[in-house]
Parts: sequence; C-alpha cells; structure tokens
Amino acid sequence: MLTAIILCGGSGTRLWPLSRETYPKQFLSLAADGSLLAETIARVAAVDKHAHLSVVSNEDHRFLVAATLQVQCPSSKKNIILEPCARNTAPAIALAALDAISSDKEAVLLVLPADHVIRNVTAFAEAVKIGEQAAAQGKLVTFGIVPDSPHTGYGYIKANVGDKDWAPVEQFVEKPDLDTAKSYVDSGNYFWNSGMFMFRADRYLDELKKFRPDIYDACVKAYAGKSSDLDFVRVDKQAFSDCPDDSIDYAVMEKTSDAVVISLDAGWSDVGSWSTLWEIQDKDVAGNVCRGDVITEDVEGSYIHSEGRLIAAIGLKNHVIVETDDVVLVADKERVQDVKKLVAQVKQQN
Ligand code: GDD
Ligand code: MG
Repeated sequence: MLTAIILCGGSGTRLWPLSRETYPKQFLSLAADGSLLAETIARVAAVDKHAHLSVVSNEDHRFLVAATLQVQCPSSKKNIILEPCARNTAPAIALAALDAISSDKEAVLLVLPADHVIRNVTAFAEAVKIGEQAAAQGKLVTFGIVPDSPHTGYGYIKANVGDKDWAPVEQFVEKPDLDTAKSYVDSGNYFWNSGMFMFRADRYLDELKKFRPDIYDACVKAYAGKSSDLDFVRVDKQAFSDCPDDSIDYAVMEKTSDAVVISLDAGWSDVGSWSTLWEIQDKDVAGNVCRGDVITEDVEGSYIHSEGRLIAAIGLKNHVIVETDDVVLVADKERVQDVKKLVAQVKQQN
C-alpha cells in the first residue's frame, strides 16, 4: 500500500515576517486558496485516493496539522507522528518508516515536503506511478527537476535519463557551493533534487542503518517507547532528543548506490523565498505581484504583500515589501536569501 509521508516540521525562515516559528510557511496560503499543507494533502488524494496519510510534525504544531487533516480528509486513514524536537529529515522519515512497516511490511513511502507547490498534478501523478514500480524493485527514488540556475540551496543529481522512465543516480551532491553548482548546470548532466522521494519503508531503514546506525538506533528506540492518543503518535522524548540531527540528503541519498531519478516536469517549486513566490504567481502588466491593500506608481517586477495596512509604493524596481502587524520587510528582490540573517538578528535581540 502507498503511504504518503508529509514532512511538516520546517521553520520556513526565508518567508519571514509572514512565516513564524509558531506559524511556519506550510500553514500559510501563499500561492493558492488553501495552505501549502492543505494543497499537499489534496495532491496525495489526486495521486491515490486510498493512500494512507502520515504527517510528521513538531509537537507544537499538532493542532494546526490535525485541523488541516480534518478539513481535507475527514474520513481517510491517517495519523500524525509528533516529534518532541526537530532532528531534521533523516530521523523524521525513519519514524514514519517504522510506523508504516508496523502495519504493512511492504509499505511503499511517498515522501513529500509540506511546503512545495506543484502546478501540474497530472504530470506529478504519472511520475509517482513510475516511482511505485522502481520502489517495488527496492530502489530509492528521487524526482529530478531540470535546473534553470545554479541555486545553492538544492541537492544536485547526476544521471542520464534520456527517454527512459528512470535512470541510476551517478552522483548526488547536497547543496554544493556556487562554483560547483555553476559547473553542474553548465554541464547539462544534472538535475535539482526536488526533495520528494519514494522507497519501500524497509529499504530506507536498511540504508539508514548501513550509513547512519546512530540515527537508526535512536529512532528505533524512540519509536519503541511511543504512546498514542487520537490520531497522534508521540515518540519517546529522551530517546529522540538523543538522536543526531541530519537530513536524508546527507545521511542516505549522497551515500546509497541504489538511488534512481525520474525526471519531473510538473511546475514544481519549493517556494523557498519571496522571489520564488513572485516567480510562480500571475503578475500585472508591470510585472508586479500585489496582495492585499496595495497601490503603486512606477513600480516594476516587485512582490508587495499587505496583511492589513495600505502599502503605497513609488518608483521601485525588483523589490519585495511584506507588511504584517509587527514587521515591515523591505528588500531588494535579489537579496531575499538574506532574510535568514535578519531573522537571526531579531532572535538575538529578543
Ligand atoms: N517533521 C519534520 N522534522 N520535518 C522537517 C524537519 C524536521 O526536523 N526538518 C525539515 N522538515 C521538512 C520541511 O518542512 C520541508 O517540508 C522538508 O522537510 C525539507 O526540509 P528543508 O529544510 O526545506 O530542506 P531544504 O529545502 O533545505 O533541502 C531539501 O529540499 C530541496 C528542494 O526543496 C533537500 O532535499 C534538497 O536536496 C532539495 O533540493
Ligand atoms: Mg525546503
């Protein structure tokens, strides 16, 4: 059976000031009517309406997750695995894999970040169908995006897919430096890693045990000490706190020799920053995306978002302005990756 694992524990710092620790980006409606999490759940239903749903989230967000699930899929089989602290994606997926395997030894996992946008759900569903075949053969499936810039926030996958359904991953490099990323993009032989994966739960656990026995052991211990109430599965707090922090990309995907890639052309975006949000949305004639109460004069190529107060802007090009109750962010659109630095400063001050 297919089990969709939705990773919902990120903090989405680069979309501050809208995305906050208590209300991170996966719970925001940024590019569609529903929140990114709600859209992700809807996407799973479009791929396989019988899929089991498992959301892995920080304990603090449990009611936000539960409320979203209740609205999106009141009657389907689902559970919410709660992490007492964030230990990144390798442990989060391990908990979900242990949970899935406890009721279905042959469970195939479709791992989806809760904070991505996919425009063409039909193309995505087709890629998942291919992924199921590869996963059934014991492969660890990645979905590769043809890159259009040397983005250093992504993993890079070297493979020669041609017109095949999938191809072996020759090399997986997580977040290379800018020069390396440029050489990969120029070579034409690399995909971006979309951050979505498919594999049999047992195969992921085998590979994790092989490459990171410390993470594997901590997760087995944390899951063994679990308790359940309603749809929530709470793992043992001490054992999970002792688990090392690492992403699936570094812990498993860079090391395994069983990875394959399926090329995905489905209007994917990880909505990683304000400029990406500008890129993926419909623009007015001057190339602006304006949300909320906004008036402009001679403004081009900008993203302007008001949560309440009127924003009035004159003579700007390629800017980002985001207004909330307590913060107004004004940035050059080219510099929005640095929002993280501002968030660090704000944290220091508080
Ligand atoms: N449950 C849980 N617990 N979820 C987590 C945790 C955690 O500790 N940490 C992160 N997540 C969730 C995030 O909410 C996000 O949905 C997903 O896992 C991936 O984490 P990110 O922190 O957003 O990873 P990234 O964007 O830096 O890199 C990954 O995605 C890129 C594509 O967007 C990698 O897989 C890259 O290789 C990939 O290119
Ligand atoms: Mg991300």
